[in-house]
Amino acid sequence: MSGRYADGLAERARARLSPEVYHYVACGAGDGLSASEAEQSWRSWRFRPRVLRDVTYVELATELLGTTYAAPIGVAPTTLHRAAHPDGEVETARGVARCGVPMVVSSNAGSTFEDIAATGVPWWLQIYLTSERSVSEPVVARAVAAGARALVLTADTPVVGTKREGERSVWSAVEPGWLRVNFPDQGGGPDDPAVRAAAEKATDLGPQDVAWLAARFGLPVVVKGVLHPEDARRCVDAGAAAVWVSHHGGRQLDRAMAPAHALAAVVEEVGDDAEVYVDGGVRSGLDVLTALALGARAVFLGRPVLWALADGGAAGVVSLLGELTSDLEECVRLAGEPSAASVPRELVVNTGS
Ligand code: FNR
Repeated sequence: MSGRYADGLAERARARLSPEVYHYVACGAGDGLSASEAEQSWRSWRFRPRVLRDVTYVELATELLGTTYAAPIGVAPTTLHRAAHPDGEVETARGVARCGVPMVVSSNAGSTFEDIAATGVPWWLQIYLTSERSVSEPVVARAVAAGARALVLTADTPVVGTKREGERSVWSAVEPGWLRVNFPDQGGGPDDPAVRAAAEKATDLGPQDVAWLAARFGLPVVVKGVLHPEDARRCVDAGAAAVWVSHHGGRQLDRAMAPAHALAAVVEEVGDDAEVYVDGGVRSGLDVLTALALGARAVFLGRPVLWALADGGAAGVVSLLGELTSDLEECVRLAGEPSAASVPRELVVNTGS
């Protein structure tokens, strides 16, 4: 036994979750190709480490959007925390707060923004804009009032990618109150066709929405779900402070290229003008080191956080993030680099394998 907390974590979580919820979290869209190759794709890069350098102390602290965090690691927005733990996002936030890293809260969260904020966690709001923008606006305003430090606009979901495994059955296993508790009561209930239509995801998102969010709420805007460098440029030109390279954990367009392979071109295009983040299959310090070398300012984790929450609540989240941080520290040191923020591009080479 290696003794790593993350080893076997998904299986331990599986034993604690309903089969519907487990499959929903684990699965990808379509054939699940993008979801299954995301982790492996980080391993196609190889390092060219440096020696004869003083790595007695290495700095992991990283500034994101003007705030310094303990490590270049954050929690990606996911739903159904209340399926994994009775206290839901609040319990996750208790753990993340102890690690000094940011938590991105899904707009579909099952805990209120105010309760999450009360844990003291530094948090950002993730948003899906609805076709009727007036449905989204009060949710964002509520988050801003509760202390969200940034707005993360998810851009890769004009429609929800069909997930064969899990999705059809999961909604019958979801209890009222596990989702969308921060939305104002629209009367009519969730089955009212008018309410449903107004809550449909926007299929006409454009750079003007990025500009509108930035101007309307005065917080930094991050656009999540970007893979093409030209789109990254359009986001930055519209006023985005950061671009988040992601294929949504392989849950949207299946066969979308791995973030580990899309990252470098995005950094090349906008890296001098905006922060670039990445998620998708990041599981180890070696993965984080690769992402940093390719120019990411930070990485985010999705599924592992839900597994840790199910496995051990806040303590599980602390074990997961703490272990990843120490793992990263060892990797940065072995690479001969003084700090996470200055890992150079030349550290990695793609072997094409
Ligand atoms: C997600 N993801 C997601 N993204 C988003 O922008 N808003 C959301 O509400 C959700 N919800 C969600 C639920 C579940 C169950 C999963 C697994 C994922 C995507 C998430 O933020 C992130 O992009 C991926 O999960 C990252 O990949 P890994 O770390 O799970 O491999």
